[in-house]
Order: sequence, then C-alpha cells, then structure tokens
Amino acid sequence: MLNREIQKIIPTRRQLEGGGFPVRRPFPMSEVPDPFLLLDEMGPVDWPPNKAIGAPEHPHRGFETVTYLLQGSMQHRDSAGHAGDLNPGDVQWMTAGSGVIHSELPHPDFLASGGTSHGFQIWVNLPTKDKMMAPRYQDIPKSEIPVGQSDDGLTWVKVIAGESLGASAVIDTVQPVHYLHFRMEPGAEHQQHVPKNFNGLVYCFAGAFWAGTKCTQIKNGSVGILGPGELFEIGVDGRAEEDAEFLLLAGEPTNEPIARWGPFVMNTQEEIMQAVEDYEHGTLVQRP
Ligand code: FE2
Repeated sequence: MLNREIQKIIPTRRQLEGGGFPVRRPFPMSEVPDPFLLLDEMGPVDWPPNKAIGAPEHPHRGFETVTYLLQGSMQHRDSAGHAGDLNPGDVQWMTAGSGVIHSELPHPDFLASGGTSHGFQIWVNLPTKDKMMAPRYQDIPKSEIPVGQSDDGLTWVKVIAGESLGASAVIDTVQPVHYLHFRMEPGAEHQQHVPKNFNGLVYCFAGAFWAGTKCTQIKNGSVGILGPGELFEIGVDGRAEEDAEFLLLAGEPTNEPIARWGPFVMNTQEEIMQAVEDYEHGTLVQRP
C-alpha cells in the first residue's frame, strides 16, 4: 500500500466573516480539495459581555455545512422551525440540500456573559443527484461522538466522520467523508488509513506535527494537501514542547462541475440563478 505524502502546504489568513466574526481560512481557498468547499477556523476570540456576534439569517443550497464547536455556545434556528444549541464538543452536520435559511448566533446566555468562542465550520459538496434532497440535520452532542485512543495513550482522536483507532462515526454522510480531530502528544506516532479514492487535507490549529514518510512539518495555521496513496503516517517530534491538534478531512471527490455564488453551490450558472430567484421569491425553503 502506497504511503501518502504532503503534496502542498497552504497558509491560512485571518479575515472577518458573518458580520465581523474573525476566522482563519486557507489562502487560496480554491485549493481546498473536492468534495470540500470551505474550511473555517472560527476564532478563538474572546468576547466581552454583550459583544459576541454570529451569522444572522442567510440561505444555503446544494451542499452540507458542518459546525464543530470547541469553546463557547451557539444557537441555531432555521425558517422551517428547526432549532438547537451547540456547546463545546458538539457537532451539527446540516445537509442544506434544496434549501435552508438559518441563523447561527451566540447563545443568549453566552452573549450576556461573554467568553471565548472557538470552533470550525466546513462545507462539503453534495453530488448532483443529491443537491436538491430534503434538508437534514444531525445534531450530535459531545457525549455521543466516538473517541479513539492509541495503546500508548499518546494519540487521541475524535471521530466525527469515518473511523480511526477502533472508533467509528455515528454521523451519516451523503458523500463518503472522514472528519477526524487528532490530539497527539510529543513522541506520538500513528498510521491512518485514508481510502485511496479519497482526496484529503490536514489542518493544524495547535503545536506542530509531521506527516508522510518524508516527515513534512505542518505548523499551527497551515493546511497540508495529501498526495495519492492509502496509508498516512503522522506524528509529533519527541522533543516538542506542546501537543499538536489538527483536523484530518478526507472524502470521495464528486468530480462534477461547480458553479458557486456565495451561499449556493450548484453545477451550472442556471441553477445558481434559479437559487437566487427562489430565495428572492421566498420559495427556497418550505416554510411551516
Ligand atoms: Fe450558514
């Protein structure tokens, strides 16, 4: 089995999103591999009382948004009446499909108290045949997300999608996807299986780790794009002073044309125009 190497490293840059929320996003984002469309690290940001902001009402069509919170508290509401809270360690896997209009705001209690907010949002594309599927939510609390650990205790992995170290995800994805959050202590080594038909990337958000048989260093704030293969070796230098934390995202590419405009991701420009028209006419979603 061929070992995967890091093909390219992309730095991230800080920018403001969703009405002024600071995010780190790979630059250029167009290099995030199919089926992924976007990777945002939201924060970490320290909000004073009554200052936290989020994303007020906005639409989506044609893909999935996955929100994973590490710190803080968010409240999600949509125009079809679905509502839910996200607390540290929780995941919301939202399949926008034919259309969702929602808001992603700080929880009122968190807004009042202020505090640190930190998390991730990724966008996963839907294949053409599923772009107009009925919207679907999978709100998974921290307690239900499987965690794997190496025998030596140096590698910890939270399995949001896919499988690792004997743990298998409870979330059902439309496109086959792996979404793993690793925390590795100095001296840790792990060999992760990433199916050979998947594209993949790693994103480091604490410390630094090495990847591939060439031991390419990936530092905090960098994205590494995986080359072809099946086995992916990762680890942390035994002399490192801190643990490394990173996401491993991998998935089967759709290999379909992408027409993208803001919150709509379809296959053709005509479908984008239709989405804009449906939104303007109030027919993007079924209102209760
Ligand atoms: Fe959204």
